[in-house]
Amino acid sequence: MNLVIKGKELQLYFSKEQLNNMVVKIANQISVDYQEKHPIFIGVLNGAFVFMADLIRAVDPQLKFQIDFIKLSSYEGKQSTGIVKALSGLKNDIKGRHVIIIEDIIETGLTITAVIEEMKKLEPASVKLCACFLKTGKQKINIQPDYLCTEIEDKFIIGYGLDWDEYGRGLDQLYYIQ
Ligand code: IMP
Ligand code: MG
Repeated sequence: MNLVIKGKELQLYFSKEQLNNMVVKIANQISVDYQEKHPIFIGVLNGAFVFMADLIRAVDPQLKFQIDFIKLSSYEGKQSTGIVKALSGLKNDIKGRHVIIIEDIIETGLTITAVIEEMKKLEPASVKLCACFLKTGKQKINIQPDYLCTEIEDKFIIGYGLDWDEYGRGLDQLYYIQ
């Protein structure tokens, strides 16, 4: 069945199973790396919440961890505005804690670099970056996630938490728009 949003046909990029396999792989890695560290996963809303929900359900049940969220945005339509709105919403004191930032997708890298800089001011013990997708060749800042599901081509993607002007977040597979 063809999926059409705003008159555009969606093309499948990654199936549910492919996404799940990638998420399980990094969840396993995190489970090993963070034993006894009591990390705090900090999701960047809105896009990261679906990925984060799958990730925390895939980590080792023996791992003790907390979750928290921040909210900001730099996107309008299909273009990054490059202007990152202030970070808000963190409910935990992260001083001395091991933080894992959870992001849906890194394109220019501007959003996540701003987030990491703000985080560091709060004096965590460590900050690592876990991203679901990285758009190849689009970075304006050199940033390499510590944990990454996969690189993707320079296409606009939707589904799996990512939206196109508030459409498509709930799709459980990843699609691209041609
Ligand atoms: P950056 O600051 O350019 O790295 O943009 C990152 C943010 O833009 C992500 O957190 C997403 O919310 C959004 N974004 C970037 N590319 C896409 C895309 O292909 N589809 C949907 N949202 C995207
Ligand atoms: Mg985002």
